Order: sequence, then structure tokens, then C-alpha cells
Amino acid sequence: MIFALIVILAYLIGSIPSGLWIGKGFYNKDIRNFGSGNLGATNTFRVLGVKAGSLVTIMDILKGTAATLLPLAFDPSFPVLLAGIIAVVGHIFPIFAGFRGGKAVATSAGVLLGYAPLMFVLVVLCFIIVLYISKYVSLSSIIAGLFAISYSIILKDLPLIIIVSLMSGFVIIRHRSNITRIRNGTEPKIKWM
Ligand code: G3P
Repeated sequence: MIFALIVILAYLIGSIPSGLWIGKGFYNKDIRNFGSGNLGATNTFRVLGVKAGSLVTIMDILKGTAATLLPLAFDPSFPVLLAGIIAVVGHIFPIFAGFRGGKAVATSAGVLLGYAPLMFVLVVLCFIIVLYISKYVSLSSIIAGLFAISYSIILKDLPLIIIVSLMSGFVIIRHRSNITRIRNGTEPKIKWM
């Protein structure tokens, strides 16, 4: 019973469509109709600006972190990483946004923040370095995901290896259109770094 409650709550937390609610609530815009069409932090920056983008980044990260903390509040025997990845699935397929969600990046990072904060810092650093060099957010997200898999293998933490591989797999699958655009030379680069 408590297990089912954690599963449902983790999914509902992940489902909170921060980009959609902030866009519609404060700017009267559904960001899925603009920019890349993605319901994520990057597209919020692109469409609504720095303030909204920063807020959505923080909220999407905290969704993953909050989900990993749920078992501590309800039943510590529930695997925290499982709660985390359920939130990531909620972020990708949100019940509150017609199951059209984001690309799993920020919420997956939030799971790492809740489970392995040092790893979170290193993955974010990797993301920033690749972003600085390439100017592509999508490529930085993919490389950071691959770095996270390698780092989890170094840690020899099997549950972490499995969950990070799944999260990074989601990230790569959800970036299919970005990969095509990078190959065609049509993926937008950020201009402010
Ligand atoms: O957070 C998703 C990012 O990696 C790419 O987003 O909007 O450029 O497809 P977008």
C-alpha cells in the first residue's frame, strides 16, 4: 500500500509541468508551440527568458530530488533511485500536460542531487564544459548523461549504474531530433556563453 503510494506520488511530482504552468500562468504562452516545442528548461529560456528559464530549471531539478526523498518520508525500504526514475518518467509523460513532457535532463540531474550530490556537481560541471566548448545544450545534455554512466561504473554502485543508464538512455532517445539537427547543422547554438 505504502509502496503504491510512493510510486503514485513520485509520478505525480515528476508530472508537474513547470514550463507549461509558468508559461501559461505568467506569460500566457504554451512553450510547446514555440522554439523547439520541448516542455523543458532550455526551451523556457529560449521562449520566455532568463527569469522563467531559471525557475523552470530549479523546479525540474527539485522534482527529481523530491522524488528520491519520498521513501525516507514514507518507507525507507523503498529504493530511492526507483522513486527518482519514476519521477523522470512523469516528467517525460506528464499526466498534467497531455503526456507531452520534456527530455529528462533536469529531473534526472535532480535524482543525482538527491542520491549522490558530488556526482551531481561533477555531471553539471561536465555539462557546463561541453556547453562552453560546443554551445549546444542538447549535446551537453547527452555527453553529461554518458559521463554519468561512466562515473556510476567507476563507483561500482549497481543500482546507480542501472538507473543512470536508464535515465541517460531516456535523455538520448528524447534528443533524437536534436541529434538530427546537429548533424544537419541546424541545431541552434546558445549565444550568451
Ligand atoms: O533540456 C533539453 C535540452 O537538452 C534540449 O532542449 O529545447 O533545445 O530541444 P531543446
